[in-house]
Amino acid sequence: MADGTDQKSSNQMWGGRFASGPSAIMEEINASIGFDKKLYAQDIRGSMAHASMLASKGIISTEDKDKIIEGLNTILSEIEAGTFEFSRKLEDIHMNIEARLATLIGTAAGRLHTARSRNDQVALDFRLWVKEELQKTEGMLTALIAAFLDRAEENADTVMPGFTHLQTAQPVTFGHHCMAYVEMFGRDRARVRHAIEHMDESPIGAAALAGTGYPIDRHMTAKALGFREPTRNSIDTVSDRDFALEFLSIASICATHLSRLAEEIVIWSTPQFGFIRLSDAFSTGSSIMPQKKNPDAAELVRAKTGRINGSLVALLTVMKGLPLAYSKDMQEDKEQVFDSAESLELAIAAMTGMIRDLEVRKDRMRAAAGSGYSTATDLADWLVREAGLPFRDAHHVTGNAVALAEKKGCDLADLSLEELQAIHPDITNGIFDVLSVEASVASRTSFGGTAPSEVRKQIAWWRGRN
Ligand code: ARG
Repeated sequence: MADGTDQKSSNQMWGGRFASGPSAIMEEINASIGFDKKLYAQDIRGSMAHASMLASKGIISTEDKDKIIEGLNTILSEIEAGTFEFSRKLEDIHMNIEARLATLIGTAAGRLHTARSRNDQVALDFRLWVKEELQKTEGMLTALIAAFLDRAEENADTVMPGFTHLQTAQPVTFGHHCMAYVEMFGRDRARVRHAIEHMDESPIGAAALAGTGYPIDRHMTAKALGFREPTRNSIDTVSDRDFALEFLSIASICATHLSRLAEEIVIWSTPQFGFIRLSDAFSTGSSIMPQKKNPDAAELVRAKTGRINGSLVALLTVMKGLPLAYSKDMQEDKEQVFDSAESLELAIAAMTGMIRDLEVRKDRMRAAAGSGYSTATDLADWLVREAGLPFRDAHHVTGNAVALAEKKGCDLADLSLEELQAIHPDITNGIFDVLSVEASVASRTSFGGTAPSEVRKQIAWWRGRN
């Protein structure tokens, strides 16, 4: 209706919980203090570096700079003591801190924002935070890799079935399987290191988007804040969130690795597989079924991957349609990164604990390794090597041997020489040397193969790099 009653009624529909109409809604959608207060330490550090640079370039006085630094130190202690009052009316961490600074030191506080904008300020704070988080992740991955190296060493000749399609394929060692995860987490750590190097440029001084006419020194602030150098394009600087996207991509790939490991732990700890026993510290009981020991920690690691992958897609979606330079959409970057960082830290820590504590049931692994005709390839290889058959023919002959063993309900090694010779006359007693799982594993000495001698070489290589 054109008389305005329409508007009134729609307001009645959504306005009930708001004290003062649309401006309260504006405040709610606009404010980020609820989550960006996490950036307080980075914000204060950035402001101190900026103020010092302004003073050394003669843009503000040394007295004002000293007051600013003193005030910022007071604010830091207040926040850390839990006595600082955050206000949603002041929108975000930058304005909360600046407003408090004005109360503490008066007009000098107003000089801090010379030659900067919240656009380069938030880019700086967030970049510092992500960089520190990546450094933490690097250390946590190193601890996880160390846990795997220890387990690999203890189990360099623990035979287990290797799988493809989750069907028994060929015998491998548990040490070799552990080292596969060392490779995966090693690549994650390399990605982390690369990202740190990639993002090691200081945004402060890009100002709103165009730079500034004040005679600032961006190299000085970059150095003071531990960056290699300043960013080179002020427009890109305030519109770039690649560092957050890189963090989320790395986190997603790493979480995917953790999730695959979690899935294996879930499978291995079933009574049917029984390859491992989880420690009590990383499992739970059932409230109704007393016999159960559930791998909840592994299941939750597997589930956290969903959250982390979701965050990556969320931020890519936020960024994909934005014109240069800054848009407020970018405020939605932080929660995704904070949530993923927390989830990833927890997942890596839980996995490191599980790997350190888990009991390897060598007897169960050995028994499973011998079933399912896992040495059939060794039989075929023997026919190629000792009887000169082309591999394709050897494959066919071996298929007949497997069919016979299956019919008799026994393993390949349990077939008699006569039975094997009936399948191919060139087979001799020497065949029995390769039909055991230990012989099979020991024979795979190609670079990166499963032979214990080879696995020990790979462990030594990683020990020198961890
Ligand atoms: N809270 C804002 C954010 O996180 C800070 C930057 C605000 N800049 C602006 N021009 N409104 O993105």
